[in-house]
Amino acid sequence: MDFIKDQDNDVVSVKDGMYLLKELDSAHDDLVGPCLVSEEDYNQLVRLSSTLLADHGGSHDMEHAMRVCRNANKIMSQQYKSAFDQSQTLREYWLVLTACCLLHDAIDSKYIGKGSERYAAVVQMLRDGLHPIGLTTSQVDGAISVCENMSYSNSTAKSTEELAPFGLVRDILRDADRLDAMGAVGIGRCFMYSGESGGSLEEARRHFDIKLVKLYATLVTPAAREVGQRLHDRLIAFMKEFDDECGF
Ligand SMILES: [Fe+2]
Repeated sequence: MDFIKDQDNDVVSVKDGMYLLKELDSAHDDLVGPCLVSEEDYNQLVRLSSTLLADHGGSHDMEHAMRVCRNANKIMSQQYKSAFDQSQTLREYWLVLTACCLLHDAIDSKYIGKGSERYAAVVQMLRDGLHPIGLTTSQVDGAISVCENMSYSNSTAKSTEELAPFGLVRDILRDADRLDAMGAVGIGRCFMYSGESGGSLEEARRHFDIKLVKLYATLVTPAAREVGQRLHDRLIAFMKEFDDECGF
């Protein structure tokens, strides 16, 4: 695979018509990675995602979806060499991963009840939106299944093997999503979500104990664990300051 670099030495495109997204505005520069998805497909996924996430609050909005996508691109770029040997397979796989990153919260149980009419309608919108960008029926089914089996609160989530051939997509997506719930961004999102759902400052603080401090231990990809350690440390340091000020 031949990458082309611009004058800043940033990867901007690859041979044979595919584009690499130049994702250089991430809060974590070391989480910037190339993405083997065409610009047209990416933009189409962003449009679908912005429609489906339109009524989500700022904690689970398009900005979050795009940060997750950036995180996943980096993890994927570090792992694909051992996971794939055919570039075509890699492109298809990366497209499914990108779709999952941008769309995973469209069917998040915090916003939409599984089995509800709304849920069925959103799943149909996902199908209608993913087929035109070239995903096969089994890839669309796989993407939806990945999104259904990635949340922290899903105690019956399928194993990586049960989600084959998209088990790695789920693992990367889950790590990428969890990184966005850690560190400074994760702290901001936690308080933002608490506010969106009518919760108090204290309830947001409790969520750190219930979930956020446990996330690092659940990361499975080496790239995520490397960055996650730093984000986890920030989380712990913030909690100490917060507790000191509030007298918890
Ligand atoms: Fe998410």
